[in-house]
Amino acid sequence: MTVRRLAEIQPASFAFTAENEAWAQKEIAKFPPGRQASAILPLLWRAQEQNAYWLPKAAIETVAAMLDMPPMRALEVATFYSMFNLSPVGRHHVQLCGTTPCMLRGSEDLKKVCEQKIGHQNHVTADGALSWVEVECLGACCNAPMVQINNDYYEDLDPQNFTKLLDDLVAGRPVVKGSQTGRVSSEPVGGLTSLTSLYGVDGRGAPPAQASAPVAAEPIAADIEAHAAAEEADIKAKLATLPKDATPEMKADSVGARPAGLSGARADKADDLQRIKGIGPVNERRLHELGIFHFDQIAAWTRPEIRWVGTYLSFPGRIDREQWVSQAASLAAGGPGLKTHDSSPVSGVKTGAGDVAG
Ligand code: FES
Repeated sequence: MTVRRLAEIQPASFAFTAENEAWAQKEIAKFPPGRQASAILPLLWRAQEQNAYWLPKAAIETVAAMLDMPPMRALEVATFYSMFNLSPVGRHHVQLCGTTPCMLRGSEDLKKVCEQKIGHQNHVTADGALSWVEVECLGACCNAPMVQINNDYYEDLDPQNFTKLLDDLVAGRPVVKGSQTGRVSSEPVGGLTSLTSLYGVDGRGAPPAQASAPVAAEPIAADIEAHAAAEEADIKAKLATLPKDATPEMKADSVGARPAGLSGARADKADDLQRIKGIGPVNERRLHELGIFHFDQIAAWTRPEIRWVGTYLSFPGRIDREQWVSQAASLAAGGPGLKTHDSSPVSGVKTGAGDVAG
């Protein structure tokens, strides 16, 4: 933790610009009478922005007067939060996290880079480009070590990429915000191990090699919903052409293909289909009537077969929403599936644990 003191050289006065003054009055008006002090953080922040990103004593006192609070109270706030700079900073002000996770991941080496390239803390380089200060945890520990430069985070740093980052910023070259090693957000360094259906989205590359039994894929909810809705609309249009007294088999035959069934469970031992989220005792019995007893049978369903079963069971689209096929594939491979004890379908009327009537 660094000592936070006001700068030795201070301007004689501070006043908000007319535009900022009007903005400040609107901020203050957001709070009930007698609670204006609650506006101190946004007002101090705006004062800092107006004053080349540092807070002179006069600005702190001006804000205190506007909020009808003792100057010492405002000073306490300004000196507590490291986001307020109490002395002039460079155009690129580095806040280097030195708290334990970042320290264990190499922040001491980053400090040496700062000392070599910039100088001691709170020093501004002669060209006005850089300054730095050590701060406490900035909440990006999983991508440690990291720094904040102005309003952006730069993560997964080492002396080499940090040096290059500073050089690029000073030279005005484009830089990448966030991880400097290419990882997306705070995903595992080796790539996703869950939610792997996100590969192919947002520029993510190929999935890492599968190390163990596959886990049921969890497609993006919006994709699932869009797909299921389109399927439902298509099936509905086809069913509208059938006579009113059409049987479930006739309806199913009009939209898909019946999956091949078995005459009985292999070795007289059916899989526990209720381990699939969305299948309860009623649906399990009806699947048995169709000759479906095992996870691998469901895992092998084709699109026409999914449409057939979904229509036969009177809930077109739901097999996709509840991801029966990927759950079954996971279970057939010895994985966990998705079902939990308290899982419940997204919508519909429960007819048994896990069963849903559309
Ligand atoms: S310890 Fe550095 S961001 Fe949390």
